[in-house]
Amino acid sequence: MELARPVFFVGFMGAGKTSVARRLARSCSVASVDMDTYLERREGKRVKEIFAESGEEGFRAVETDVLAELAAKEPLLVSCGGGVILREENRAILAEGGFVVYLRVTADEAASRISDTSSRPLFQDLEAARARCEERLPLYEAVADVTVDTAGKGVAAIAREVQRLLEKEGILCRRPR
Ligand code: S3P
Repeated sequence: MELARPVFFVGFMGAGKTSVARRLARSCSVASVDMDTYLERREGKRVKEIFAESGEEGFRAVETDVLAELAAKEPLLVSCGGGVILREENRAILAEGGFVVYLRVTADEAASRISDTSSRPLFQDLEAARARCEERLPLYEAVADVTVDTAGKGVAAIAREVQRLLEKEGILCRRPR
């Protein structure tokens, strides 16, 4: 199949963005990239090292560069870092050329899915994560072209649901023979 536009997966840490994008990429034979993995390769450092050395602001600056870079590529599925919606500039990039799929999750469910919080500097304690999740909600909603509730669903079911939505919206199309 092919993509008419880049598809950006947004949502809180632990929403399943990376797994769902990867699964969908495999079943539809389209390319996918995880923004944080791409960013870590580009910078030669782990996300948590960037946070430790340059703080959240330093990380956000690199994140914006990476987002712009990925948005300019041939359309692909991009799983974004959970905080990508924080900067106005990023929200403009998402809205401009891409189709945004918001995977909704509660902080409590996310906590149960994340096996290792040590790689996520902003998911250190549940109380703070709940507040952060709540605070970001309007921003996720503002950029979303479609919202998928992930509560109680597995990766395969979510990927199928996203596939149906993308086909319906004409974003994911069968390649002409
Ligand atoms: C962040 C989410 C992380 C990563 C960084 C900051 C956030 O990505 O970009 O730790 O602010 O929500 P995931 O959503 O893939 O965990």
